[in-house]
Amino acid sequence: MTTHKILLLPGDGIGPEIIAEARKLLACFAEHAGLRFDLWEDHIGGCAYEAYGVPLTRDTLETARAADAILMGAVGGPQWADVPYDKRPEAGLLTLRKELDLFANLRPAIVFDALVDASTLKPEIVKGLDILIVRELTGGVYFGEPRGIETLPDGQRRGFNTQVYTTNEIRRVADVAFTLARKRNGRVCSMEKANVMESGKLWREEVTKRHAESYADIDLSHMYADNGAMQLCRNPGQFDVIVTDNLFGDILSDEAAMLTGSLGMLPSASLGAPGSPGLYEPIHGSAPDIAGKGIANPLATILSLAMLLRYSLDRGDLADRIEQAVQTVLSEGLRTPDIMAEGCTATDTAGMGAAILRALYS
Ligand code: IPM
Ligand code: MG
Repeated sequence: MTTHKILLLPGDGIGPEIIAEARKLLACFAEHAGLRFDLWEDHIGGCAYEAYGVPLTRDTLETARAADAILMGAVGGPQWADVPYDKRPEAGLLTLRKELDLFANLRPAIVFDALVDASTLKPEIVKGLDILIVRELTGGVYFGEPRGIETLPDGQRRGFNTQVYTTNEIRRVADVAFTLARKRNGRVCSMEKANVMESGKLWREEVTKRHAESYADIDLSHMYADNGAMQLCRNPGQFDVIVTDNLFGDILSDEAAMLTGSLGMLPSASLGAPGSPGLYEPIHGSAPDIAGKGIANPLATILSLAMLLRYSLDRGDLADRIEQAVQTVLSEGLRTPDIMAEGCTATDTAGMGAAILRALYS
């Protein structure tokens, strides 16, 4: 039997609480689904900075490289606001993404029927919503050089970053979007700001070329990212797959998450070249305001584990079952505070995790 090497990186804030629930699911699959896991756990982010002086050590990075998949909680917190950029919690996550070349970030935004009323949008706008955002994750302004803050001769300070994309960076993430669209509804909308940015113009040209070369069966459209943001709340149902750069993808995926009712519901997968380990994480942050209270919604992490099973362990069957269990538990009316609604039953992080386990094996 294959043993799957999984690295758990709980991180900061609510990270440890939500990863604990995923751990219970892994134990459950080891017991009931005949899977064998070699589980590792380490620090990333602020906790790594406290323990080792850096947000990601070389050792942790090498363990990640050797793993089949990585499941992360969240990084960051106000206590590290004044730490220099290269030592900040976020730098640990960015280094991990970059070093493992995890260029394609898949962020599905699905509205579960039971949560239609949790969205701030009208039910008729979000009912049945199923969008996949494919965010480029290792390029753009997040990594572009030069970057910095300098002091000008007149004493002013000047902060600068560089938005940069190469042909290949655009083409490979476009390939991922087109390929995934084939298994969905066959539509890709590419978003950039080609009207003001050269990198956006190149993005549009290269996506168009890739489409003509290999994906003529896919319906490709382009949108300026600002219009895309507006369309996402006006009529999100028009989208199937959205492909966009690192920064726009960061923003648009938070927006798409809110369409589903809560940031606490959205999982993500960051994938690189075939054979390299995938990184799975909820898209919400470390939520320092509720950390340690045991009330965080573990569903985004549990759904990230489903993506891990699907994309890294080739166990789409188990992923389907987790997604089905989430559906069941939500339709029974169980709710963490972030998605609480009238007439529903309040629960906490552990209560939600236990309910998912029961729905899986009862
Ligand atoms: C995300 C987060 C990260 C990002 C932070 C924590 C560095 O917001 O994954 O969306 O900006 O990519
Ligand atoms: Mg973000």
